[in-house]
Amino acid sequence: MRKKIVAGNWKMNTTPAQGLKLANEVNDMAASAPTDVELIIAPPLTHIPLITQALAKSRVKVSAQNCAAWEKGAYTGEVSAEMISSTGATHVIVGHSERREYFSENNEMLLNKIKIAMQNGLTPIFCCGEKLNERDSNQYFNVIEKQISEVLFKLDTKEMGNIIIAYEPIWAIGTGKTASPEQAQEIHAFIRQIVSKKFGDELAKSTSILYGGSCKPDNAKEIFAKADVDGGLIGGAALKAEDFIAIAKSFPK
Ligand code: 13P
Repeated sequence: MRKKIVAGNWKMNTTPAQGLKLANEVNDMAASAPTDVELIIAPPLTHIPLITQALAKSRVKVSAQNCAAWEKGAYTGEVSAEMISSTGATHVIVGHSERREYFSENNEMLLNKIKIAMQNGLTPIFCCGEKLNERDSNQYFNVIEKQISEVLFKLDTKEMGNIIIAYEPIWAIGTGKTASPEQAQEIHAFIRQIVSKKFGDELAKSTSILYGGSCKPDNAKEIFAKADVDGGLIGGAALKAEDFIAIAKSFPK
């Protein structure tokens, strides 16, 4: 009904040579992962043409970690969705909490990025998630609803049908502190419910919602066992091919 997905966000790690090696290792090991799990890797931009070429016949898809909020022009240092798409990449991560925090990306920019990404044939992986103080003060439902409604609810149904959502609680990213399977399920079910209210049950049921935040081979099984968790957006553990593929093997049989 909806796709199981494991995506690796390499962040700002590896040189092109190291990245190519890692991509080839992931590709070699991919044969041992269940065929119904979509595998995506998101290397740094400088590596993408190398890797899309090496993986041209692979089941492993390639994503960018970001794209510009404008189509083209005088935006020094930016890379457009059209440029990314022309390399053979198929996905782009939009709204990662690190981009929201360090690069002041706001919901309006994220909506632009999503629209332009889709116009250029890229599938957006849209990230949402609350900070520790927002969880501790029980505001997390409101925070997530706002992140989703101010961006995804501005799309039409056809556009929304092309979105992958990643729930990444900020307090769990790179901290070794994972959300419990119950905490993940609670939010994933909530996200599906608000998507259903806005776009209908059928679309909500076919939207993949990934969990991200210290997801590792030793905790992926219990998280992926939850009904509304459709896979993971993996940071640190995606930098080791064995760990990344072990995570891809962690879905219930
Ligand atoms: P970690 O798996 O390193 O916690 O990172 C998660 C993440 O931010 C993926 O986008």
